Amino acid sequence: MKNILVWDLPVRLGHWLMVAGFALAWLSGDSEEWRLVHVAAGSTVAAVALFRLLWGFVGTRHARFASFVRTPADAVAYLVELLRFKPRHHTGHNPAGAWAVLALLGLALLTAGAGWLTYEEIGGDMFEDLHEGLAAVMLTVVGLHLAGVAAGSLVHGENLVRAMLTGRKQGAAEEAIAGVRPLAAVLLLAWTAAAVWFVAVAS
Ligand code: HEM
Repeated sequence: MKNILVWDLPVRLGHWLMVAGFALAWLSGDSEEWRLVHVAAGSTVAAVALFRLLWGFVGTRHARFASFVRTPADAVAYLVELLRFKPRHHTGHNPAGAWAVLALLGLALLTAGAGWLTYEEIGGDMFEDLHEGLAAVMLTVVGLHLAGVAAGSLVHGENLVRAMLTGRKQGAAEEAIAGVRPLAAVLLLAWTAAAVWFVAVAS
């Protein structure tokens, strides 16, 4: 096992943009005065999630859904291994974490979609209630995600948060990705800025 490049730049940048957007959206959610900030933060989360869905098909090896999405039975098997403190090491996302990733991406889009309909005053209270309910579910999944990251880091003796910053994890040399894809990261930034401008300012 070597210290190899696993996460490309769009994955890492997108992740920390989602974290910042989610935190800001939570903090500004209840305030009328901060409404525009809230809408911009939510749009950031949704724009990154949309980009990430596409990147899951065309991105680098460990970013692709095909490389990390496994069956629910595989996810349960991994959790059982984790409880026995003997989980197999996965170079990319582990099978249980993969389901949290999919849930977070789906919830990000649904929560932001319901929020956008509320902002556009479509559907009355219905979408506002749905938006708040989905945001609460998302907070719960974020909590589970953080518990999983902490447990995985401890049991594997590998700092997964640092890996999401540096892109580097333990793995076999042949599993390393060739480059960080800086151009795609610039595209992600431009797309996110355009989406925020369109939703919060132009529409
Ligand atoms: C401070 C809070 C957070 C920390 C420290 C954190 C940490 C991490 C880490 C270490 C991973 C990689 C897990 C692995 O190695 O398999 C990851 C993946 C991920 N996290 Fe978080 N996370 C945080 C908050 C969030 C939030 C709020 C969201 C959603 C709004 C989120 C969504 C995701 C997604 C979608 C992935 C998959 C990344 C990808 O493949 O593109 N995280 N997170």
